[in-house]
Amino acid sequence: MTTPALEFHAVSKSFPGVQALDSVSFDVRPGEVHALLGENGAGKSTLLRVLAGDYQPDSGYLSLAGEHAGIASPREAHRLGVQVIYQEPNLAPSLSVAENIFMGHLPVKARRVDWPGLHRATARRADKLGLTVDPTRRVWSLGVAQRQVVEILKALESDVRILALDEPTASLSATEVGMLFALIRRLREDGVAVIYVSHRMEEIRAISDRVTVLRDGRTVDTLTTSAVADARLIMMMIGRTLMTANAPQPGRSGNVALTVRELVTDEVGPVSLQVKAGEIVGLAGLVGSGRSRVTKALSGTSKARSGTIEVSGAAVRIRGPADSIRAGIAICPQDRKALALVPDRSIAENIALGGRAVPPRAHVLSRRREAAVVREYLTRLDIRPADPSRLVRTLSGGNQQKVVLARWLAQSPAILVLDEPTRGVDVGAKSELYALLRDLAAAGVGLLVASSDLVELLGLCDRMYVMRDGEISGEVARADATEESLLRLAMKAPAPAGRSHQDG
Ligand SMILES: Nc1ncnc2c1ncn2[C@@H]1O[C@H](COP(=O)(O)OP(=O)(O)OP(=O)(O)O)[C@@H](O)[C@H]1O
Ligand SMILES: [Mg+2]
Repeated sequence: MTTPALEFHAVSKSFPGVQALDSVSFDVRPGEVHALLGENGAGKSTLLRVLAGDYQPDSGYLSLAGEHAGIASPREAHRLGVQVIYQEPNLAPSLSVAENIFMGHLPVKARRVDWPGLHRATARRADKLGLTVDPTRRVWSLGVAQRQVVEILKALESDVRILALDEPTASLSATEVGMLFALIRRLREDGVAVIYVSHRMEEIRAISDRVTVLRDGRTVDTLTTSAVADARLIMMMIGRTLMTANAPQPGRSGNVALTVRELVTDEVGPVSLQVKAGEIVGLAGLVGSGRSRVTKALSGTSKARSGTIEVSGAAVRIRGPADSIRAGIAICPQDRKALALVPDRSIAENIALGGRAVPPRAHVLSRRREAAVVREYLTRLDIRPADPSRLVRTLSGGNQQKVVLARWLAQSPAILVLDEPTRGVDVGAKSELYALLRDLAAAGVGLLVASSDLVELLGLCDRMYVMRDGEISGEVARADATEESLLRLAMKAPAPAGRSHQDG
């Protein structure tokens, strides 16, 4: 029996009012990919922060290669060969990609930073890993997926013995996930111990050797992945079986709710698409294909150069988020931290913000009604803890995402545009959310859902547009769509050089 690379011994950690970790024990072997599974708020990220030296456990301890290890600080973790890639990218936005990756040890030549050398080194590392980045780009200008790529490159810079990844693929699409997995497998062959957190069961299956399930901060069990069925894992995670997702009803052809004609922005276009009332339309494509850019143009955060947008047949001008809300379009963006949440405000305030942002013409929620709406979504989306006064900052990643969704759902828009709506949301809450989106469609709302997850789109949408290199490369009805056919449309031609799309 080899000595485990890492062991957690009865690790506990609490925050005011929450026992986030309650005597967690398991071990990770060298050359093993060990999945960590658990619903939103189960304690996964907290455990990784203990490993990274960000948090000190209240009790219990860790050992590395059989030796008791006090990981007193992130610096200490780094010295011990422990690297943690966080759920929320943790980069310096005003610095370039290369500076972020080599922060603290920039290459120096004649007592000056060797910029060309730095950029070459960055490109070389990215190349070796099969990833693409522009070393000179400022991080603030990158989309979420590209930031994740930078995080990964940064973590692999040092001599890593233990690598933990907290939902690294949440914004990546199949091709990028494939590259990341190839990378993880290579590290595994080198004897690196990998902890892998994800809510996507097919990924856990594809990459992990064993899996530990956490529930309410406690270890439920550690099992060999190939020896346990999905249904059992889900049962262990959420304590119930999932309703089998009932296939969506074919879209009732209502009136056209949204028409986009020949829309061109600096990064995408021309894009033309339609969403009918009562229809759920998908927007598929690889990272960088322009999915998010289209949603940004609809919210006015990315400027349209030409083309028209019509809502229920009437042309609208969208120069900023207020215009889109006034036009009846609610946009739920991907970057929840920067665009969607006020972390130091309560759950209730964050949900109601959407309502308050509604200009005078629309109805204004009364206090009482507001409280009722907040309660409704706390229950429907199972936001935990279900305490409207809790600060959003203290919620787990998946629960923050649910608050973002609640905020837009509560506005009862005519058109709802969602960018990666289930990023970081656990399987139980996901099925609730899909049911909710179908209810909205049934009530006549037109939905446009951009997602990197083809399986999600296939399960949810009536129709899908596929984007490639900033343009729509095809439109497929759900009945004719398969993962393969969508991927083919997403990848058909090699991307021409000289045009850069930095996010999904
Ligand atoms: N800084 C904090 N202050 C107070 N409570 C916190 C803090 N950080 C985490 N918690 C609470 O600890 C619990 C575990 O959170 P954690 O982020 O570890 O969950 P998770 O398993 O990573 O969930 P997700 O899948 O949603 O990312 C949650 O109840 C969360 O609200
Ligand atoms: Mg988390």
